[in-house]
Amino acid sequence: MNFISMNLVTMLYLIASVCFIQALKGLSSPATARQGNAFGMTGMAIAFVTTIALILKLQSEATAAVAAGGGLGLGRVALGVIIGGGIGAVLAKKVEMTKMPELVAAMHSLIGLAAVCIAVAAVSEPHAFGIAALGEALPTGNRIELFIGTFVGAITFSGSVIAFGKLSGKYKFRLFQGAPVSFPGQHLLNLILAIVMVGLGLTFVAAGGTEPAWLPFLLMTAIAFVLGVLIIIPIGGADMPVVVSMLNSYSGWAAAGIGFSLNNSMLIIAGSLVGSSGAILSYIMCKAMNRSFFNVILGGFGGAPAEAGAGGAKEQRPVKSGSADDASFIMANAESVIIVPGYGLAVARAQHSLKELVEKLTHKGVTVKYAIHPVAGRMPGHMNVLLAEAEVPYDQVFEMEDINGEFGQTDVVLILGANDVVNPAAKDPKSPIAGMPILEAYKAKSIIVNKRSMASGYAGLDNELFYQANTMMVFGDAKKVIEDMVKAVE
Ligand code: TAP
Repeated sequence: MNFISMNLVTMLYLIASVCFIQALKGLSSPATARQGNAFGMTGMAIAFVTTIALILKLQSEATAAVAAGGGLGLGRVALGVIIGGGIGAVLAKKVEMTKMPELVAAMHSLIGLAAVCIAVAAVSEPHAFGIAALGEALPTGNRIELFIGTFVGAITFSGSVIAFGKLSGKYKFRLFQGAPVSFPGQHLLNLILAIVMVGLGLTFVAAGGTEPAWLPFLLMTAIAFVLGVLIIIPIGGADMPVVVSMLNSYSGWAAAGIGFSLNNSMLIIAGSLVGSSGAILSYIMCKAMNRSFFNVILGGFGGAPAEAGAGGAKEQRPVKSGSADDASFIMANAESVIIVPGYGLAVARAQHSLKELVEKLTHKGVTVKYAIHPVAGRMPGHMNVLLAEAEVPYDQVFEMEDINGEFGQTDVVLILGANDVVNPAAKDPKSPIAGMPILEAYKAKSIIVNKRSMASGYAGLDNELFYQANTMMVFGDAKKVIEDMVKAVE
């Protein structure tokens, strides 16, 4: 069954890699995201079919030792694909948009675990992976790759499990609570464990001989599992999306490391793409949230992050408030309206009603645009996805840097369930969010803010914008308020 040559395998892997690069390019804009997804699926299909063909080829060429061990297990591969693919398809179909980060965290944990399992198998039987001939010692280079792939995979696994628990908020287990878990000397303990882990890894690498040095290898893996937990527990639940993006990056590097050991160019390329794009995304998120990148990588954001929602800080100063009818009257009589969606809009699932409201306003001759902050909501691209779900035309949606110059000339800004992303406190050097770029809604002629109460947002800060003389608060759940606005505009 030697129907595929190694040259063809390399060529097909190259085509799959180009598809993955096109996928990333497509996913960089909502307008091309579907096309990007199609490229990604095509690349994965090519990589998958090629790998199966490669297994068949290796099976037909299998050494006596491999054949005696039951061959390369195509049946088991097929079973894994059916079960794993089935679970993936059902989950992807069922998952709610706001639950996406926890699904992604769960998936990353599996990638990390897969990297560890492959490494253990490769250390145990290197000849089965073509790394060393039967009875020969593992080459030093492979030992280094396996050591790195294993500890990165183990940290990714346990870290992602904790991130999943914190994001889901469903479990009573203390480590799965959204609140940060910290204790004195935590960072010192992490540092000591990291040093011991690397020391054990190097012992494994240095030990030659045909028998693998199992003790340092397994101890190193166990410490990496513990380290994954310890790095993630001091981070609050609301900060988890940044962590998930970091873990995404780690899982890519783990896969690339294992790709080197297995001499599989596809794994190396795909792993590096995931690793670097995850790292870049984390960097963008950190910058937009004014967080330090290295602080995130090392785990823990310094101070305990504030939790969003009604429990946040409240101020007793009076504010001007009005009804949905008042807000509709102001908007219907304006020439231009900019809408700023935020986390609350996603919570209320009000995107469809919002689209209806915009259509009604546009029909009345009002120019309406949407302004998107890069970290509005709780996951990258959260607002873009939300608006795309409601089939809002892409040409009405503007990124922060493209629309910030327009707020000063805009009649009305309608802020829906957003708070931190429009908080002028970011301009104050003493504020905890100092330096965070914001949507400059405070410059508009009139400002309408919809939220349920005067509670703070994710950063736990009061928002001076709500007290401005030209601001009107419309209290209530975003969906109900927008539905009332639609009726009033009619
Ligand atoms: P937030 O600052 O968190 O504010 C959301 C507001 O929505 C809250 O003040 C809340 O006030 C209101 N709200 C909640 N449910 C609502 C509902 N059903 N109807 C109407 N209003 C509702 O959100 P934002 O402005 O989108 O900013 C995002 C924040 O999350 C930033 O601080 C960002 O750094 C952080 N963050 C973002 C990400 C990513 S990647 N997007 C990742 C991690 C953290 P009430 O309770 O009074 O209603």
